[in-house]
Amino acid sequence: MLFIASDHAGFVLKEKLKKYLVKIKIDFTDLGTNSGISVDYPDLAKLLCNEVLCLPNSSGVLICGTGIGMCITANRFKGIRAVLPFNVATARLSRSHNNANVLCLGGRVISYFKALRFLKTFLKTPFLNEERHINRIEKIDN
Ligand code: RB5
Repeated sequence: MLFIASDHAGFVLKEKLKKYLVKIKIDFTDLGTNSGISVDYPDLAKLLCNEVLCLPNSSGVLICGTGIGMCITANRFKGIRAVLPFNVATARLSRSHNNANVLCLGGRVISYFKALRFLKTFLKTPFLNEERHINRIEKIDN
């Protein structure tokens, strides 16, 4: 299951990315926000992180204006590994090396096409599951 949420600044990008998710028939849940009316990004980040932590093998997409506030908030949650990629390579490596489970995007700072490329990369890249990476990820939480 994929969870997706945004604040008002990420709302338009969220709606566009949802159309792609519907097209490729991915099972997802939209946790809001549902309009461009101002809301506080930590509230949406907390909502999504709690869902991801409760449902094994789930992941999330968080969108705010820059992606920064969502990423800072999400990484306060033990077990959440949130990434704010700056290119396709970092989106890919966040999955293969860091087993990132939350993708953060900035609706006001990157184009829809760049966001889509990051999302596609995030969704299709598996964790390498090698011992060195598993050990390093365990050290984050320990
Ligand atoms: C909202 O104006 C903006 O501050 C928020 O979307 C985000 O960019 C924060 O990191």
